Amino acid sequence: MAPVRKGCSVHIGRVLITQEEIESRVRELASEISTDYAGRNPILISLLKGGFVFLADLIRHMTIPHEVDFITVHSYRDGFTRSERIEILNDLKRSVRERDIIIIDGIVDTGHTLSFLEQLLSDRRVRSLRVCALLDKPACRQITVPVDYIGFKVPDVFVVGYGLDFMELYRNLAYIAELIPSQVLDQTAAGVTPGIPAGEPHAAAVRPVQPPEDGRLGESREKVKKTVAKPNP
Ligand code: IMP
Ligand code: MG
Repeated sequence: MAPVRKGCSVHIGRVLITQEEIESRVRELASEISTDYAGRNPILISLLKGGFVFLADLIRHMTIPHEVDFITVHSYRDGFTRSERIEILNDLKRSVRERDIIIIDGIVDTGHTLSFLEQLLSDRRVRSLRVCALLDKPACRQITVPVDYIGFKVPDVFVVGYGLDFMELYRNLAYIAELIPSQVLDQTAAGVTPGIPAGEPHAAAVRPVQPPEDGRLGESREKVKKTVAKPNP
C-alpha cells in the first residue's frame, strides 16, 4: 500500500462498508455482548478518538446494564507511518479493579495500542477483559492480541469514517471508505485500487476533497474548509 502522509493530497475512494451494513452488524454485536454478559455489569471502555462513534451506537442496542468510560492513548505515527511509542493522554475516570471490561476500539491495525492497553488493564487487576473492534486489519498485525468481537475484516488499506480519521478529518462519514493518496488514484483506472473487490461506491464517497493550494494537508484548517466541495442542494 502506498503511504498516506502529511503533505500528500488524498481522495475519499470506494466505500468498503456501507451505513446499512454497519448498522446491522453493530446490532448483532450488541446482542452477542448482551447475551455473553447477562447478569453482569461490564464497563465498556472506548478508545478515543476512533472508538467513540462505535460505542455510541453499540450501547443503544445493548439490553443489559453497563457503564462506559474513555481513555485516550496516542501512538506516535505520522498519518500512515506505524510506530510503537504509546502514551496515555487521558486516563479512565473510574477504578477498573475486579470489574469486567470490554475495550471498544474502532480498528485494530498492528495491535500495539491494544497490547499496551491490555497490559495496563491487567496491571490494574480487572476481573475479565475482552476486546470488541469494529474493524480488524489482520494483514497488518505485528503483535498477537485476541479480539473477541470483530465487526468486519478490512484489507491493508487506510480507511476513514464512522469515527476513524485521517488527520482529524472524515470521522463524520456514516460509512467506511478507503482513503486514496492522489498519486495512487492517478495510477489506477477509475479510482479502483487493485486487489479490492469492486462494489457500488456511495455517491458522496467519490466526491474528491481538494487539498490546499500548496498541496499540504493540515497546515491551515481555514484553507481546507474553503476548498471542501459543498454538498449538492
Ligand atoms: P495499532 O496500534 O496499529 O493497532 O493502531 C490502532 C490505531 O491506529 C487505531 O486505533 C487508529 O487510531 C489508527 N489506525 C490504524 N489504521 C487506521 C486506518 O486505516 N484508518 C484510520 N486510523 C487507523
Ligand atoms: Mg487517527
